[in-house]
Amino acid sequence: MKLRKLIPMTALALSGAVFSSGELNAQVKKKEKSCTKKESCAKSCSKSSEYGKPTDVKANEGAFKIVSLKHDYNAVDSYIDAQTMFIHFSKHYVGYLNNLNKAVEGKTQATQTIEQVLKGLDMSNSVLRNNAGGYYNHNLYFDVISPKGGGQPTGALAEAINRDFGSFDNFKKQFSEAGAKRFGSGWAWLVVKDGKLQVGSTANQDNPLMPGLEISGQPILGMDVWEHAYYLKYQNKRGDYVSNFFNVIDWNRVAELYKVAM
Ligand SMILES: [Fe+2]
Repeated sequence: MKLRKLIPMTALALSGAVFSSGELNAQVKKKEKSCTKKESCAKSCSKSSEYGKPTDVKANEGAFKIVSLKHDYNAVDSYIDAQTMFIHFSKHYVGYLNNLNKAVEGKTQATQTIEQVLKGLDMSNSVLRNNAGGYYNHNLYFDVISPKGGGQPTGALAEAINRDFGSFDNFKKQFSEAGAKRFGSGWAWLVVKDGKLQVGSTANQDNPLMPGLEISGQPILGMDVWEHAYYLKYQNKRGDYVSNFFNVIDWNRVAELYKVAM
């Protein structure tokens, strides 16, 4: 079964409707016919226009602001589908942002940067921990995804990866395992710590800027392995999502973040 057919089928399944395989195929064909461009359908039936523009999305007023996607929802459709990107950005991310702003209203944290909030976090404050983390983590995640992504880094970042991991392939293996083996929901990270690169993972919306975690440092690459980041397209195959994530990593952007972190 081709992946492109799983999206509408999954949507139908999630709606609670029960269809025979013939009825499902008819629904899929009807959905494909709704696309105006056949070549677009050949690749995927996820048109950005189905979901509007990322810049249409508004968050509640607050100290922290929405950072819009740099691309349309279907920009990396071959690897992360438009429906997932739409829900991820406009619902999950905006939800964390709105809850963060509510949590810091009238408090010192409302005058700080998000990095300051995270570094000074009282880890027993679960509302701030989850939502400040969710806001920061998703800003980074969406920032390092690009339709022009993939390949390997060059320049100083490539040299640092070779120095600290032995090779790009070794880094890729460690980063992939960090994401694939994280039990439940969480994140895989590439961080700069004391001038060196390290890979690790955190649970839930924790991140390496927070105090007292198993990995610490300045994140320059984050991969979301919550099911909401991949389940519509990949279902239980997190490993396939992790593998394909390497096709969307904007190494030029990661290199810029590396330069700032050094
Ligand atoms: Fe997420």
